[in-house]
Amino acid sequence: MYIKELEKYKNKEATLSGWIYNVRSSGSIMFLQLRDGTGFVQCILSKDEVGDKKWAEAQSIVLETSIELTGKVVAHPKQAGVFELQITDFKLYQVPTEEYPISKKEHGPEFLLDNRHLWLRSKKQWAIQRVRDEVIKATYDFLHQENFIKIDSPILTPNACEGTTTLFGVDYFDLGKAYLSQSGQLYLEAAIMAHGRVFDFGPTFRAEKSKTRRHLTEFWMMDAETAFCDHECNMKIQENLISYIVAEVVKNKRAELEILERDITKLEKIKVPFGRITHAEAVKKLQALGSKITEQDDLGAEDETLLTQDSAVPIFVEKWPKGIKAFYMKRDPQDDNLVLGSDLIATEGHGELIGGSQREDDYEILKQRIIDEKLPLKEFEWYLDLRKFGSVPHSGFGYGLERLVGWISGTPHIRETIPFPRMINRLKP
Ligand code: 4AD
Ligand code: MG
Repeated sequence: MYIKELEKYKNKEATLSGWIYNVRSSGSIMFLQLRDGTGFVQCILSKDEVGDKKWAEAQSIVLETSIELTGKVVAHPKQAGVFELQITDFKLYQVPTEEYPISKKEHGPEFLLDNRHLWLRSKKQWAIQRVRDEVIKATYDFLHQENFIKIDSPILTPNACEGTTTLFGVDYFDLGKAYLSQSGQLYLEAAIMAHGRVFDFGPTFRAEKSKTRRHLTEFWMMDAETAFCDHECNMKIQENLISYIVAEVVKNKRAELEILERDITKLEKIKVPFGRITHAEAVKKLQALGSKITEQDDLGAEDETLLTQDSAVPIFVEKWPKGIKAFYMKRDPQDDNLVLGSDLIATEGHGELIGGSQREDDYEILKQRIIDEKLPLKEFEWYLDLRKFGSVPHSGFGYGLERLVGWISGTPHIRETIPFPRMINRLKP
């Protein structure tokens, strides 16, 4: 029996197992908040009901005591859909003998991160992980409905996908250095030639020296890749996916969003079509708003916030200068200096959620790009092969799971959206 399903046991007996989240006493009554993983419930223990012996034993109950509680499920006198348990019996599993380090008082972020193994139990942290799980589930559901299959790309790789400066290297037997994957994209490009539409979903690694609230060194990415799909088609898949995910979270994780004090009306407005603006237009708009950005610059965090401040939906920034984007992006046939790439920028200052593009499908142009970027041609021979044997127009994108969860849950710092964050100054616990 789980807290989530208490309604089924209304006016009947139920037994719940979990942890004590809060204890309060008043005379011969104790109010215990129980957390069982599926939710939280108030349980009332009275001396009259359980008798002197059990009442005395109950006095040892402290925060995070693990316990089994049996009692009658009753509807909350004032709140509809809320239930309480009138305890008739209980069994203690373990009673902590030390004071639980995380109390209701304010704690600093470093303290909470040092105690991440315990902090995960706090209500907001609990809610964030449940939103994360819903985002993952909705992603799989949407992509499978749309004929994508999951293809697992490797984590140990011989070369860079997104540029060589942010690679984590590891010694790899007699073969020299291997690198932890930055994105499975290149492998998915191989797999579409067998399966048409594929995605991967796994940890990715970037040795970025960025200490921002949006950067982790280990984060989860979902890459999707589609054959016979151009830049426009690529953006349609992205906006359909993201609006589907948001709707699923709103539908299935309302209680969690309420715990997080998320403004749900804002999420309800996340509907297709999303905004579209070219990089050149975005630069002009940002300059008018006071930004120092130039035509050859990537958007800074401030720029991303400014750009979407008046928009209810995320905005695609498309057609970027080729010099600031990855080697594999296809040139814009209308302007050789631009590539058919897009970044999807979230609303409410949450920044870039997705990077995507149409891929260069011409053998000679792609080879030249690899040479121009001074990438090791030999390592990319297999990738170039894909342009030799049945090359097709194709596109793909990758979202950062923590960025997406941060945005949907309204969590400003993405370190709270991953169970055990890895940052340049943090590897523990
Ligand atoms: O924009 P990026 O670098 O794109 C790629 O890696 C492409 N190969 C994806 C593809 O086309 N299949 O990264 C994709 C997303 C970003 O938009 C961002 O959400 C997230 O990954 N991301 C990070 N999230 C947390 N910490 C970091 N250090 C991140 N770097 C990128
Ligand atoms: Mg990007």
